[in-house]
Amino acid sequence: MSDTIETPSGAMPASRTRFGSNSGQPMTRRDGVLKVTGGATFAADNHPEGMLHAVYAAATISRGRVTSLNVDAARAHPGVVEVLTPANRPPLAIDPDTKPYPFAFRTEVLQDDTVRYAGQPIALVVAETLESATEAARLLSPTYDASPARIDFDTVEPFDPQAVGVGSPPTAEKGDVEAGLAQASHRVDARYETPGQYHNAMEPHAIVATWDGDRLTLDTPNQAIVMSTGSFGAWFGIPAENVTIRSPFLGGGFGSKAIIVGPQILTILAAKMLGRPVKLALRRDQMYGPVGHRGATRQEFRLGVDADGHLTALDHLTTAVTSTFEDFIEPASNASHDLYATPALSSRHKAVRLDIGTPGPMRAPGEASGSAALESAIDEAALVAGLDPLEFRLRNYAETDPASGKPFSAKALRECYAEGAERFGWSKRPLEPRQMRDEAGRLVGWGMGTALFPASMFQANATATLRADGTALVETAGADMGQGAWTALHQIAADGLGLDIGSVEFRSGHSGLPDGGIAGGSGHTATAGNALHAAGTDVIAKLADLATNDENSPLFGAGNVGVEARDGRLYRADDPDRSQSYGEILARAGLAEIEGAGQGGRDPASAEERAMFSHGAVFAEVTIDPDLGQIRVTRLVGAFAAGRIVNPRLATSQLYGGMIWGIGFALHEEAVHDKRSGRIMNANLAEYRVPVNADVPAMDVILVDEHDPHVNPLGIKGVGEIGITGTVGAIANAIWHATGVRFRRFPINIVDLL
Ligand code: MOS
Repeated sequence: MSDTIETPSGAMPASRTRFGSNSGQPMTRRDGVLKVTGGATFAADNHPEGMLHAVYAAATISRGRVTSLNVDAARAHPGVVEVLTPANRPPLAIDPDTKPYPFAFRTEVLQDDTVRYAGQPIALVVAETLESATEAARLLSPTYDASPARIDFDTVEPFDPQAVGVGSPPTAEKGDVEAGLAQASHRVDARYETPGQYHNAMEPHAIVATWDGDRLTLDTPNQAIVMSTGSFGAWFGIPAENVTIRSPFLGGGFGSKAIIVGPQILTILAAKMLGRPVKLALRRDQMYGPVGHRGATRQEFRLGVDADGHLTALDHLTTAVTSTFEDFIEPASNASHDLYATPALSSRHKAVRLDIGTPGPMRAPGEASGSAALESAIDEAALVAGLDPLEFRLRNYAETDPASGKPFSAKALRECYAEGAERFGWSKRPLEPRQMRDEAGRLVGWGMGTALFPASMFQANATATLRADGTALVETAGADMGQGAWTALHQIAADGLGLDIGSVEFRSGHSGLPDGGIAGGSGHTATAGNALHAAGTDVIAKLADLATNDENSPLFGAGNVGVEARDGRLYRADDPDRSQSYGEILARAGLAEIEGAGQGGRDPASAEERAMFSHGAVFAEVTIDPDLGQIRVTRLVGAFAAGRIVNPRLATSQLYGGMIWGIGFALHEEAVHDKRSGRIMNANLAEYRVPVNADVPAMDVILVDEHDPHVNPLGIKGVGEIGITGTVGAIANAIWHATGVRFRRFPINIVDLL
């Protein structure tokens, strides 16, 4: 494969990883112009003929019953077509209080008058206009029989999910933790808290549902397009093939668009009832409840360290918040499974049920919260051991996976530490806190954290069609929620065909295409990418057969030495002067096109043998105003090793995005509940704080070379989620280094410092 253009110095990330003639290049987003010019069609942009608008009324209490709804007033409002309540809601094919299929979340679809959290849909109004539906929903004026909200962690008894048969996250037990703690020279016993956080995608959830007999068409953002056809179909008793999902663009997903949620089902139901297309677009405040969130956690650590600074035991117990009706339990303790060598390891999860919407996967589920706490605890362990935090991490470097004992498929974490530390200037860090000030007299602190995320894969299929004119079509139902699938997958597909990306048409974002798997778990590029590449190489193999068996081809008889595909031509591997264009080969064979197919997925045998992760190291500098307590992150350097990098520009953007989320996790994001009503008091983007440009410092991402021959044929790992994981701890540790005070509750707030 040919090498590619050099990175212009300074302007682009310092990647040395290049592969293919398209992959490895820092191409800009192929959907970028469409998006910035308004040409990209998002779900709510669809207005089929005869479409109605739906708006739901939401509960303002957290627990109890709806005792009345003024349905007459709502119905009498001009333009109103229907009001759905538990009294007239048509039946569904499945019971919403069961788990009828994998990945299903029990949800609220007006099954009864019970209120289980504030913000729960309690009625759906359908009208000719959005304004009419909005006003009529207000006229419903619900009354309630309210019970006290259970919102406070401390007032509810935790339960052990394993003991009660609820799906628990995986746990780890290795060695004798109590013995390890007993023999330790130093101990860290610390409890950390992380808050409820909400996905807050730029594009709130939206759906346009259109029925044609028993066929259903949905315009809705979705991270798992083909799988979701079956999930939606199950609610209405129709087969997957009767459901079409169009999801060409998503304005962010972060996990919340990987699950089917109640408001979507209600909209489809209304469309069926009324025989007209119906649209529902959630308001920003409605994003705080029925569409998932990152559940709050409390995490208790017990760490033992011997006199040489080696861990003797690592014990991580997470207590996570879940809802009263669904069992998603944030798998935060999993963060301790795969990073630090220890003879004794224990990880467990408990849960408390509160009157809140069900939590769900949110960008780096488990690892984000778990790593925030783990990396803080490791910093505390380095302190008691009297060691520099990087030195401590190197002493406890895991050569094999601590939880499973398996070798890593590849692990360039040492290189991440070294390259990140060098770029940051870590060697100049004083061991003691409160040693550095900037020119304005602000306290300066430096901290670091290790980043880790599993190299997941799902299952994907793809097809490729080479046409007589030498161009090609590739297809897979991928999902681009902003991460760059339209570009990165297209690059990989073009390489599989040995064509320039400009000669390859890429179709995606539609359930009628081959199943592209899930855009989640940081595994989409690896999974769909391998499928697309394999589809291309399948075509090339067929093409090579034609040419090498054709007596009049310059490639005749080259079957044994092999041929190479590049720039739309096949070349004899041993003689680059003998070649033939794809178009000529097809023409001589009298074919209009050649089709190929490919699959992507984890080889079960290799997964059995090896532990597969992306790794990284994040270094942070903060300044703190000693009088005002104002915290500023002034520098962030992240070095990440994630196998082959398909597009250094987009990978860097993904890592920037993750690291910026890390700033938000460390310093800003928190859903604040009113303890009497249970309502979220900051369900808007003004008061639910996320980092803005002024909060984002100079950021530096280093893409560290890593060749992983085991993870999948192309050696691709994920970059979508890992950026959060090291960053939160790095910032918290920098705050300790600036102040000498350890904050164990996130977000760390200006109020904490006063
Ligand atoms: Mo992600 S939370 O796997 O979409």
